[in-house]
Order: sequence, then structure tokens, then C-alpha cells
Amino acid sequence: MRLSREFRDQFSQRELRTHGRKNGFVTAGQEARLLKWLPVIGLPRDRCLDQTGLPDGAPVVMEIGFGNGDFLVHLARTHPDWLLVGVEIYLPGVAKAVGRLEDAGVIERVRITQLPAQYVLTHQVSEGQLEGVYINHPDPWPKARHHKRRLIQKDFAALLTSRLKPGGFIRLASDKPDLAEWMRDILDATPGLTNVAGPGGFVEREPDRPKTKFEQRGERAGRISQFLHYIRD
Ligand SMILES: C[S@@+](CC[C@H](N)C(=O)[O-])C[C@H]1O[C@@H](n2cnc3c(N)ncnc32)[C@H](O)[C@@H]1O
Repeated sequence: MRLSREFRDQFSQRELRTHGRKNGFVTAGQEARLLKWLPVIGLPRDRCLDQTGLPDGAPVVMEIGFGNGDFLVHLARTHPDWLLVGVEIYLPGVAKAVGRLEDAGVIERVRITQLPAQYVLTHQVSEGQLEGVYINHPDPWPKARHHKRRLIQKDFAALLTSRLKPGGFIRLASDKPDLAEWMRDILDATPGLTNVAGPGGFVEREPDRPKTKFEQRGERAGRISQFLHYIRD
């Protein structure tokens, strides 16, 4: 089986330049699940979040760069009142997450897209629509000349903030001290956001938080993750 060009095009865009791998191997079983579920829970490029059949009124929480979907499953299980939006550009990640969400019996409260977060937030999410956003271990792009590829940039931070409700949150994690400080410095300087730990601070790890694949990878390499928590004024 192969996903048709027409099917894939619903989740691709050329308007905004983004970096990072988009494609990779997907098994026939995963393709079958994508074909079954994306027409139901997908957020295709020509629709806004409001047009995807999410019930009105419940808190909408987004995870950007969900990787294999384990943290998204954790959020769905631990917050049965939340509607979740998962954003991940890597197709094999989307495929794994769809399988895990279906197996966990939580998939119908989730909307999923392979479009980049910059596109989704700009074109598909309204101002003040989100209760919160999680970003765990975004790509570090370690070389200085690639820092402009990092997800958290000044403009992106302002965009993210504009999509949060007053009182809404952004929670981030990184196992790379240089990236953690980069994100903190940009978000601390973003108008409308307050760092829960105080300026320059990091918060404690949430006790019930599962270790994501990249947190575990960092630990194996001897790195301790750092956590950030912001509230929109
Ligand atoms: C280092 S991995 C972390 C995965 C997972 N959050 C974890 O902690 O294990 C970063 C993820 O962000 C995704 N990503 C990178 N740029 C993105 C973008 N612009 N929008 C959405 N996802 C993105 C990558 O495909 C990758 O899966």
C-alpha cells in the first residue's frame, strides 16, 4: 500500500520554510491506520481547528514535535477533559502516534497533523484558542550557523503567545543546556508571558511526567533535562 500524493498533500505546505526530516519508512499496517484515522482526526491544511468537529468549550492543548506520540497519549490519559492537538512534521512519528492513540482508546479526543507548527499556528489556530502548549526536546541544531533553524525564535514566541488564552501555559523541556537557556532567554523577553520560576529560572520536573524518548536519550548520555513553564498574562 502507498499513501497517495493527494492524501499526503493535505498535510504538506510550501508557504513557510522549515527544517527537519519529514519522510521515512512507514509499514503497511501504519499506512492502513493513517488512511483510517486521518480523515477523521486529521487537521488538513485547508481547515481551521474549529472546523474539525472538536466539541465546543473544552480546553484545547497542543503538543508540538510529539515524536512517537507517547507524551500525547500520557496527556490524553491524565486529562480526560482536554482536547489535544498533536503537531509533528515526521511522517513515521505521526504514524506511530496514531497507532498508540488508537490502542490507548483516546484517539477521538485528538487532532493530528504533519504540518509544521509555524503553519498550524499561523493559519489554523485562532488568537486565544489554546489553553496550553507543550514542547518537549525540540531539535537543538547545535551549530551556531543553524541556530536560526531552532523552533523557538522571537517571532515564533510572539505567535505562540497570541494563540494562548489569558492564563494559558507553555511548558517546555530540553536536555541540552544551551538550548534550554536559548528558549528561556527568548520566552523571558516575550511580552505577555511570565516565567513561573521567575526571570531566568527553571521549574522542577513535574512528578507524574513520563520520560520522553529524547529525555531518556539525554539521560543515557549523562544530561539532566531542564524544564520551563510560562503563563500568558
Ligand atoms: C528531538 S525530537 C523530540 C521528540 C519528542 N518530543 C521527545 O521528547 O522525545 C523533535 C521533534 O520535533 C519535530 N519537529 C521539528 N520541527 C518541527 C516543526 N516545525 N513543527 C512540528 N514538529 C517539528 C521533529 O520531527 C521531531 O520529531
